[in-house]
Amino acid sequence: MTVNAGRRAAPRRAVLAGAAGLLTAVLVVGLTTAAQAGTTLGASAAEKGRFFGTAVAASRLSDSAYTTILNREFNQVTPENEMKIDATEPNQNQFSYGNADRIVSHARSNGMQVRGHTLAWHSQQPGWMQNMSGSTLRNAMLNHVTQVATHFRGQVTWWDVVNEAFADGSGGGRRDSNLQRTGNDWIEAAFRAADAADPNAQLCYNDYNIDNWTDAKTQGVYRMVQDFTSRGVPIDCVGLQSHFTGGSNYPGNYRTTLSSFAALGVDVHITELDIRNAPVDAYRNVTNDCLAVARCKGITVWGIRDSDSWRSGESPLLFNGSGQKKSAYDAVLTALNNGTSQPTGTPTTPPPTTTPPPSGSCTASITPGTVWGDRYNTSVDVAGAGTWSVVVAITSPQKISSTWNGSPTWDSSGNRMTMRSNGSGNTFGFTTMTNGNSSARPQIVSCSAG
Ligand code: G3I
Repeated sequence: MTVNAGRRAAPRRAVLAGAAGLLTAVLVVGLTTAAQAGTTLGASAAEKGRFFGTAVAASRLSDSAYTTILNREFNQVTPENEMKIDATEPNQNQFSYGNADRIVSHARSNGMQVRGHTLAWHSQQPGWMQNMSGSTLRNAMLNHVTQVATHFRGQVTWWDVVNEAFADGSGGGRRDSNLQRTGNDWIEAAFRAADAADPNAQLCYNDYNIDNWTDAKTQGVYRMVQDFTSRGVPIDCVGLQSHFTGGSNYPGNYRTTLSSFAALGVDVHITELDIRNAPVDAYRNVTNDCLAVARCKGITVWGIRDSDSWRSGESPLLFNGSGQKKSAYDAVLTALNNGTSQPTGTPTTPPPTTTPPPSGSCTASITPGTVWGDRYNTSVDVAGAGTWSVVVAITSPQKISSTWNGSPTWDSSGNRMTMRSNGSGNTFGFTTMTNGNSSARPQIVSCSAG
């Protein structure tokens, strides 16, 4: 399996990631052979350069019916609760890794990659941390990140560095929490600490209800990741939990969300998938959406059998309580086997269509245009101002080769164009050469009136 390094810039990461990739490839080749390619979720996903994983509870590892399915079907594991802050640091500076180590050991000895979950979170904090605030809490959180990431260095492929930091509802802003009250830069600080402790791990932001592209929460997380990648904050991936349980449904624009995050230059993972009553169509759609996006590197379901689920009453998983495969299992396996083994990266959906709406400025909306083999057109409609300047970012090695209906200037990298109105109306356009990257699409950075 290929695991792409993201945009992180630490100089030794490329070397280490290459070594890890080689090891991973060896493990997955072995797994694929042993498990008969295409007949299990993990083997089929591996054939497509992806993982198919599950949340695992340490308490279930003594259940042979459970481990039989686990070992047969999955090539990636996320500890369900055992790496959370209350589990790993129950008393300040006293670390407890027994259950997490057991899961990691089981996973690695069976050729499965491990996702660490999670280093910094407002929930499942031990009592001592819940009562902290300010710089005392900030330092305790950073110490926790450093200690835990160091303990698992070399064993964890991805870390959910920060979990669920955005608020639900219409604002698209941060969730209030004791961590948030230490300062808005707490997420960035956690990522930098994790990067220092384990430069070879892929560092992810993970959240729920960021599946629907038009939701304010999705847009808020998107803007944070865009900000991080533009400033070099070490982030490699975004995890969409995708709990379509408890009233949240699979949205028709899910693929747009996946491809839009991916266009920022990060991998995307579906990290905690479960769907109320396990409808065949929704499971198939999620799988096909992931397969359609080159940087969607894998799917993790949040438990094996319905009886293992945190929402067992909704029967949301791929195996019933007796360990039998459900119809949704067949749908997922068929989709994986029918999927492309070489994702083209061709965008199937438009990128974000509007700028964040800062007050007193204009709005710029992208409309994708004609696509050729080596280039594509984009047009931008500006609203809210007669004269304007719009900043557009493109992803290297793509380059804008021509423009119309505006006056462009460029930054020194050539990756940012500022387009100013020139009396030709409120729609401008440009052609972008893909230069080998056919998946990235331009993003609106800002729209200023005047
Ligand atoms: O192990 C104790 C048991 O000894 C005790 O008797 C029992 C009494 O309540 O509690 C047991 O612990 C429970 C634990 O799950 C293990 O089953 C906790 O109460 C319970 O709160 C905990 O719930 C977990 C939940 O996170 C907590 O936030 C779920 O298992 C776990 O699936 C869920 O996972 C989260 C992800 O981390 C983040 N995304 C959402 C997802 C679902 O909520």
